[in-house]
Amino acid sequence: MKRPKIALIGGGNVGGTLALLIANQKLGDICILDIPDVENIMKGKALDVMQLRPHVGSDVNLMGTSDYEDLKNTDVAIITAGIARKPGMDREDLLNINIGIITEVANNLKQVAPNAFVIVLSNPLDAIVYSFYKISGFPKNQVVGMAGALDSGRFRTFVSMETGFSVEDIQCLVLGGHGDTMVPITRLSSVAGVPLEEVIPKDRIDEIVKRVRFAGGEIVKLYGTGSAYFAPAQCAIEMAEAYLMDKKRVIPCASLCEGEFGINGYFIGVPTVIGSGGVERILEFKLTTDEQAALDKTLEVIKKTVAETGV
Ligand code: APR
Repeated sequence: MKRPKIALIGGGNVGGTLALLIANQKLGDICILDIPDVENIMKGKALDVMQLRPHVGSDVNLMGTSDYEDLKNTDVAIITAGIARKPGMDREDLLNINIGIITEVANNLKQVAPNAFVIVLSNPLDAIVYSFYKISGFPKNQVVGMAGALDSGRFRTFVSMETGFSVEDIQCLVLGGHGDTMVPITRLSSVAGVPLEEVIPKDRIDEIVKRVRFAGGEIVKLYGTGSAYFAPAQCAIEMAEAYLMDKKRVIPCASLCEGEFGINGYFIGVPTVIGSGGVERILEFKLTTDEQAALDKTLEVIKKTVAETGV
């Protein structure tokens, strides 16, 4: 069987980590694309990971490039291209720059790999994935944003740290936008099916939920120069693998809602079934009044950012 081809668009901290993890997992051949200024660094990263393969028994091939022609026949494209906010730059400046970058990526990718399944990580996530979808014209089942997997994984991590139970037996669900207004659904979170509310006192759950909301910022503060990259990369791989292996995983992802949860025409974090058809469906369920209100609130934030993109 032919190995799948995975394009990493943006080869910075997340992109480089993706290359390492994908090679380790032997998931597919890898092409790291970045801007011409850093093409040699991408070639270096590719060669470095190539030389790791004998030690893990991996035969996948890697290359670094700045030429979209090298992305022909891509099966999965994972987009982390963008810049992080620098001192003196406001949110709007950042958004404008990253919209410019995603426009370039979308216009190029549709020429060379119109059938790729695209996983977007660049921030502000919900607006960038929306822009990619609009600009590229890709079908909605081929475009998804990585956010909820990370937010839910952070929730699981903190519950495990609190209780000492294995992360494997902890289920947590976070819906909504990838920001402070995300919607952790505590009611449906559990330890091996036992409701979280029966395992952890309410005041501690509230503390954990608060930490989940600001977990990205907590890492930004610790790093000082950038944002999280190990966990985001692993989450994107989970989504890529669900597609390539037709797993029908149900993963919270930023997917295009067309009526689900009362949302129309926006990408937002919802339980998403990923299989060989890409985004195969959204697993809708009945929210409580409070949960729906929280989701409506996060939607307003997304709508505002999307309006600012001008896309
Ligand atoms: N085309 C391709 N790559 C680009 C482009 C472009 N037009 N513009 C910038 N890049 C590249 C940069 O050169 C850099 O190598 O995107 C890469 C971004 O890497 P980092 O700055 O290290 O950022 P990283 O930590 O990887 O995060 C990337 O993912 O999780 C999100 O919030 C995060 O939006 C950020 C993105």
